[in-house]
Amino acid sequence: MITRRELIDKWFEFFKSKKHVVIPSASVIPENDPTVLFTTAGMHPLVPYLLGQTHPKGKRICDVQKCIRTGDIDEVGDESHLTFFEMLGNWSLGDYFKNEMIPWSYEFLTDPKYLGLDKNKIAVTVFAGNDIAPRDELTANLWESQGISKDNIYFLKDNWWILGSGIGPCGADSEMFIDSGKPKCSPKCNPSCDCGKFLEIWNDVFMEFKVNADKSITKLTQKNVDTGMGLERTLCKLNGVKSVFDTEIFAPTIKYCENISGKSYDDENYKPSFRIIADHLRTATIIIGDENGISPSNVGQGYVLRRLIRRAIRHMKKLDIPAGHLGEIAKIYIEYFKLDYPELKDNENKIIEELNKEEEKFLKTLELGNKEFEKVINGIERKNQFMANQPNFQKETQISGKSAFRLYDTFGFPIELTEEMAKERGYGVDIAGFNEAFKQHQELARTTNAGVFKGGLADDSIWTTRLHTACHLLLAGLRHMFGTHIEQKGSNITSERLRFDFNFDRKLTDDEVKQLEDFVNSAIKKSIPVERVELPFAEAKRKGAYGVHKAEENELVSIYKIGDLDFQICGGPHAKNTSELINFKITKQEAVSAGVRRIKAVINYK
Ligand code: ALA
Repeated sequence: MITRRELIDKWFEFFKSKKHVVIPSASVIPENDPTVLFTTAGMHPLVPYLLGQTHPKGKRICDVQKCIRTGDIDEVGDESHLTFFEMLGNWSLGDYFKNEMIPWSYEFLTDPKYLGLDKNKIAVTVFAGNDIAPRDELTANLWESQGISKDNIYFLKDNWWILGSGIGPCGADSEMFIDSGKPKCSPKCNPSCDCGKFLEIWNDVFMEFKVNADKSITKLTQKNVDTGMGLERTLCKLNGVKSVFDTEIFAPTIKYCENISGKSYDDENYKPSFRIIADHLRTATIIIGDENGISPSNVGQGYVLRRLIRRAIRHMKKLDIPAGHLGEIAKIYIEYFKLDYPELKDNENKIIEELNKEEEKFLKTLELGNKEFEKVINGIERKNQFMANQPNFQKETQISGKSAFRLYDTFGFPIELTEEMAKERGYGVDIAGFNEAFKQHQELARTTNAGVFKGGLADDSIWTTRLHTACHLLLAGLRHMFGTHIEQKGSNITSERLRFDFNFDRKLTDDEVKQLEDFVNSAIKKSIPVERVELPFAEAKRKGAYGVHKAEENELVSIYKIGDLDFQICGGPHAKNTSELINFKITKQEAVSAGVRRIKAVINYK
């Protein structure tokens, strides 16, 4: 058994013995690279130095780097995919090259002081050549002279490495694999085959070239070495376990989840959920706790973070894990990683707070969102059944873009979550339709934010906006019950609750409170569109618009119309449909002054 700590320590010890300086991991949020959201490889933060800038620590450095690759996020749950991983790396910044690196690689892999692997169980690949660079005979000869048999050296055309963006320093590489001992799957089987015979652990890149922004290729002024060893994968292979999730790194989290769920990781029905929780919350902890840490949001890295947390929560639900455990899981990782990433400990409170806040936000609507999702699926199934006998019947196989957008906008389901849930039920999602709805929404949001409407809300978050619409329905209800002399005397809205003052001279009875709630909730159930119209003030009044707004006769005013229930002069912003309000509940009523009463109310998620 070799532990993560031992592997890292061996790495540093070895490269220190070769005159390398250990540097701390750079941020996982790249500072000067708008082409990607996250740091994806150990060399990523070192690009300027690979291109020729002088590194303050010299020409030989090594580290363990925090990396995130979210391209395969949906694959997490299988044996090998992770969204966050650690990469052990060493670099020559215009210093040593192949003649040193290949013997060192061999030494680290085989010397009993380090990994102590049997040389006959090591297979390597070498660049087979193309029009940029010739076949890499030197590297192959170096491997052979170290003791790797010719049979275990494979020349491949694909042995070329560059960042995912396809721009930057690059060059031929030589990859190292553990031969699992399984027979070859075919006579052509080689290390690039994924049959499981060859398990990749390390990559030496010999960077001599650079792809420029215009895709032209130039030779670098210096020769570099960039190597990367995936820590989790190597630990998994060295310890002979089947999956990266079966290494010590994930064991405490999986155990913790087993304990609270009463379910077993060995149960194949639940295994993917355990893995998704363990992976996604580890990545979320790293992202929030990073020195450039960010919070969940609907854009960029924040959106990836939100997706990770919400997907983890959904899988926690599958295991019947109750709310309130995200912080505890984060703490497991913070303790485990704090030596290498001390920023996690420094940001412990922030990590826990952000996770709890996001959980609270998502849980508010998760249940309702699930119901909505079921409604959408049932709708499709009913339609398919109903239409089945019609000529030219074509089965509906997709959730519409509009429905997917509603799940996103009203219930906080990241589109990828809707896709995953749809897939579990055998359906797809109209992504183009979703994008279209999304674009329209953004355009609307921009108009609102640009201050075109002078509504003067303190906080125009989505919930505040919805509560604002609830105020309109509340006033409409009061006027419906007590007469149109009832007017708004003041209001204050936060994203948590509304406060609404109106002219009235006594306490409402319990019955009246109930009637008022019913009035608003019946409007919500009817899914009435909230429409904005603009009219000259005088005409608006003529058409029955009301509101406290005073204006010149001809001045254009904005009026919000909620079916035939309300027609009120108001700057907005408002919900687009009453259904977004979900459920309305009055929490308090009190006197403000003689003849003025106050109602407090909330959107009731449960
Ligand atoms: N940059 C190389 C890789 O990520 C080492 O595989």
